[in-house]
Amino acid sequence: MVCCTKASFCLVVFAAVLLVSSFGAEDPELKECKHKCRAQQRYGEKQREACVSRCEEYSRQKQEREHGGEGGGGGRGSYGEDDQSSWINRDIPTTERLQKCLQDCETRHGTDQDRCRSRCRREYESERGTYEGDERQGEMEEEGQEKQQRYEENPYVFEDHHFVTGPQSQHGRIRILQKFTDRSKKLFRGIENYRLAIYEADPLTFLVPNHWDAEALVFVVKGKGTVSLVTKDRRESFNIKEGDILRIKAGTTAYLINRDQNERLVLAKLMQPVSTPGNFEAFYGAGGENPESFYRVFSNEILEAAFNVRRDRIEKLFGQQKQGAILKVSKEQIQGMSHHEEGGIWPFGGGESKGTYNIYQEHPTHANQYGQLYEVDYSRFRSLQDLDVAITLANITRGAMTALYYNSRATKICVVKDGAGYYEMACPHMMSQSHESHQRKQPEGSRRESGGTPSYQKISSRLKRGTVVVVPAGHPFVAVAANDQNLQLICFLVHANDNEKHTLAGKRNVINRLEREAKELAFGVPEREVDQVFRSQEEEFFFKGPRQQHWGFSDM
Ligand code: CU
Repeated sequence: MVCCTKASFCLVVFAAVLLVSSFGAEDPELKECKHKCRAQQRYGEKQREACVSRCEEYSRQKQEREHGGEGGGGGRGSYGEDDQSSWINRDIPTTERLQKCLQDCETRHGTDQDRCRSRCRREYESERGTYEGDERQGEMEEEGQEKQQRYEENPYVFEDHHFVTGPQSQHGRIRILQKFTDRSKKLFRGIENYRLAIYEADPLTFLVPNHWDAEALVFVVKGKGTVSLVTKDRRESFNIKEGDILRIKAGTTAYLINRDQNERLVLAKLMQPVSTPGNFEAFYGAGGENPESFYRVFSNEILEAAFNVRRDRIEKLFGQQKQGAILKVSKEQIQGMSHHEEGGIWPFGGGESKGTYNIYQEHPTHANQYGQLYEVDYSRFRSLQDLDVAITLANITRGAMTALYYNSRATKICVVKDGAGYYEMACPHMMSQSHESHQRKQPEGSRRESGGTPSYQKISSRLKRGTVVVVPAGHPFVAVAANDQNLQLICFLVHANDNEKHTLAGKRNVINRLEREAKELAFGVPEREVDQVFRSQEEEFFFKGPRQQHWGFSDM
């Protein structure tokens, strides 16, 4: 039943994608659709045929719609990716379809693009209604609505279905988180020009050389690889391992191998587009049909002249590769590409400018039995300075928690590297959007006018491997590890230069630094009573967790 829903949704979005594509005389959509079916490496012959016939059926229905007006049901046609076992399990594909649909709109201009985008959203909304209904069958409709509302109320958490799948093959894939401002324009304008991507590849694989129109900061979540970077006049190769941080400048041609025989390679990348705010693209030159090489779009006479060879040779060269962007390779090929020194630069030797920095290289900035915090900012790794980004890794011991704290100017984009737990955050933004029934009764004299004195909503969510959480600057936040496993959070801090962490509980908390008068005036009680609360915690950053964990937060 669920799969019927998924399928029909694929159809609707697929229909939308095709509808908004350019209308040619000989239905180029159909041609392209069929082509994509045949290019799906993971499909067997039967699946390819089924895919092709879905294209044809879709095309037929489209023609009917064109002659019979809009509003027809979705046609049968989908070449959406099947799920692969992965670092992160996929569950709800709807947002992904939406993102794909929206991405396709990017090629259009002006009002055409607006129309395209609003069509994507309409289709998505209507399909999501179906999905919600299906998934919660047997539940009261009211409950469903409330759930939906809670979902809308926590735009800070991103799950697997908020990712779009980029280039992929049966050996790996690149997943890109939706644009933050597509989730909420108001809340995420400050990080609009940052995107998060996750690369996952099987053992002994090769990512075909490509470049992007974005600055990239790479964190090695797990595995061992070798990254090669080709700039204007040299090639550098770095062996990378878990915990390594690597900066790749925009436009650098990069390729990557997973040189381990058993372990998957997982990278988290923060991208900062340099051309179109919030959007970036990959450009594959070395390639063929899949990945499609950009050389192929140039006219034959241009290519003949540019390469100074005959057309048939060019066609042969760019017609061969059909295996996708991530390829399986032999141990010998791996050796040929990874025989340089660990972390060094090749062929120019180690020298001053180390290309990578390992987050475990220095002692943690906070460490006790309840957890460790590793922090890397530009003072340790110079390449971070102009990006204005820092990276932290928190390893919270099972059952323990972080201090309540906030960042003075950085907004954190965190990915759960491993483990499970939950977080809570105070947010003044969400309160204004929620219902009056959520507002607590205020003591006399404290006015709550809209746009006046702030009031806060508790934002919380379960955290599991792969969950992404955004914590804006100034927002008090705490993370708690589950009782049975450590919680590891990798965070990219955007606007990190001169950022400070301010703890709100623990040995060095902000309140302890106030004078007696300020404490007494602010709390309306004698200083002694303030200190009883704020001076009882001996630890500084990681604490023993709540003895009985309450899991009553909304389960998004
Ligand atoms: Cu907020």
